Amino acid sequence: MHLKSAGLSVNRASIAHKIRYAARNPRRIAPYARRTARDAWLRLKHRDHVAYYRAVMASDTSRDPDAAVGSASHARWLALGEMQFAYLKDHGLRAEHRMLDIGCGNLRAGWRFIDHLAPGGYYGIDISPDILISAKKTLVTYKLQDKLPHLTLTRDLTFDFLPDAHFDVVHAHSVFSHSPLSVIEECLGHVGRILAPGGFFDFTFDRTEGHEHHVLREDFYYRTETLAALAERHGLRARFQEDWEKLPHGQSKLRVSAG
Ligand SMILES: C[S@@+](CC[C@H](N)C(=O)[O-])C[C@H]1O[C@@H](n2cnc3c(N)ncnc32)[C@H](O)[C@@H]1O
Repeated sequence: MHLKSAGLSVNRASIAHKIRYAARNPRRIAPYARRTARDAWLRLKHRDHVAYYRAVMASDTSRDPDAAVGSASHARWLALGEMQFAYLKDHGLRAEHRMLDIGCGNLRAGWRFIDHLAPGGYYGIDISPDILISAKKTLVTYKLQDKLPHLTLTRDLTFDFLPDAHFDVVHAHSVFSHSPLSVIEECLGHVGRILAPGGFFDFTFDRTEGHEHHVLREDFYYRTETLAALAERHGLRARFQEDWEKLPHGQSKLRVSAG
C-alpha cells in the first residue's frame, strides 16, 4: 500500500494526533511552537485568508524561497518540479498550448513548463509578491527571458483580467492544500469561463477520508467528493487521477473539465 493511504483518516488538527506526533518527533516541537506563535500573530493582523497567507509566504520566502514552496532542499525542489512537468506532459500538455499556472510560486515546475511551451504560452499567477520576485530569479537562472512568460500578482481567483476560452491547460499544484473552501469555490466558479474548448484544469489537494480539517489555516484537508461536488455545482466534471497516486507525493490530484 502506498504511504499516502496510511494517513488518510488522520485528523492532524486533533490534540490526540498532536500529542502522538510530538512524542514521536520531539525535535519538531520547538519549530512547531514557533510557527504556531508566528501564525497566530499573522492571523491577528490579517483577518482575510489571502492576506494572511500572503504574509506567511513573505515570512517563509525571506528565509528560503525553495522551502516556502514546500521543498526541504534544492534537490527536492528540482525533483518535485520534474514530477509535475513529466506528469502533465504525459497527460496532455503540448508545446503549442496556452497554460495558466495558479499559485506558480518560484517556478519550481514553471521553468520547465516555460521551456516546453512556445513564447508567451505560459501565464503564472500568485498572491505573493515575494515569491514572484524569486520566480523572476528562476527565469534568469534558466535563461528563459526569450520565452516571455507572464507573471502576475493576484489577490483573488476570479480571473476577471483574463480572456474567455483562452487556456488549454490550467494547473494548480499545492495551492488548494493551502486554501479554505471559499477560495477553491471562487476558482471553480470562474475557471470554466477561461478554459478553451477541450481544455482541462488539474489541481492537487491534501486528501482525507475522515473529517475535513485544517492545521494553522496553512494546510487544509478535503474529501475528494467535496471537491468533485463543488466542481459539478459549477458545471464542471471532475475525475480523480488514479495514476498520480503511484507517485511519491503526499497529495492527490483531480482533473476538471467542462461538464
Ligand atoms: C506550496 S506553493 C506551490 C508553488 C508551485 N505551484 C509549485 O508547485 O512549485 C503554493 C503557492 O500558491 C500560492 N497561493 C496560495 N494561495 C493562493 C491563491 N488563493 N491564489 C494564488 N496563489 C496562491 C502561494 O503564494 C505559493 O506560491
